[in-house]
Amino acid sequence: MSNDTTASAPATDDRTDDQQDQPRVAVLGTGVMGETVLTGVLAAGWSPRRVVATARRAERAAELEETHGVRTSGDNGAAVAEADVVVLAVKPKDIGALLDEISPHVEPGTLVLTVAVGLSCAFYEARLPQGTPSSA
Ligand SMILES: NC(=O)c1ccc[n+]([C@@H]2O[C@H](COP(=O)([O-])OP(=O)(O)OC[C@H]3O[C@@H](n4cnc5c(N)ncnc54)[C@H](OP(=O)(O)O)[C@@H]3O)[C@@H](O)[C@H]2O)c1
Repeated sequence: MSNDTTASAPATDDRTDDQQDQPRVAVLGTGVMGETVLTGVLAAGWSPRRVVATARRAERAAELEETHGVRTSGDNGAAVAEADVVVLAVKPKDIGALLDEISPHVEPGTLVLTVAVGLSCAFYEARLPQGTPSSA
């Protein structure tokens, strides 16, 4: 991913975050479905400080920050490393490469969810660390 100059790495300073009981959510890929998930998470009461969205294009990241107030990143691995719940929202053809990119950053116990259609749980389990709870 190449937009690190504008889409900054996720902030790790939670001192101003008053919702530290909420799981930290990372939404990877913010097209139609990713933004829909993002909107739903915020509507459910999540603090935007607890949500990070990744985007490949800096202008998309800026749009998401302005519209939703969430943090954005161009670095999927860094976003995953700080998340309790990860939502994969890229096209099915891009899921394999994304899993290879994030797998080293998935901590034990991180919940990985996907909205991609047509891929089996076995597809994910083969690419994620053993024992990662996953749900399609
Ligand atoms: N749309 C629906 O009604 C619908 C319904 C059910 C399920 N789904 C599932 O939802 C998933 C997403 O579909 P969509 O319609 O939301 O597609 P989309 O609008 O094309 O969004 C996909 C997004 O993923 C981004 N992306 C791709 N690779 C990335 C990477 N490595 N890191 C970060 N971002 C990356 C793309 O960035 P760029 O813009 O830079 O290319 C794009 O913004 C698909 O797997 C689909 O099966 C969609």
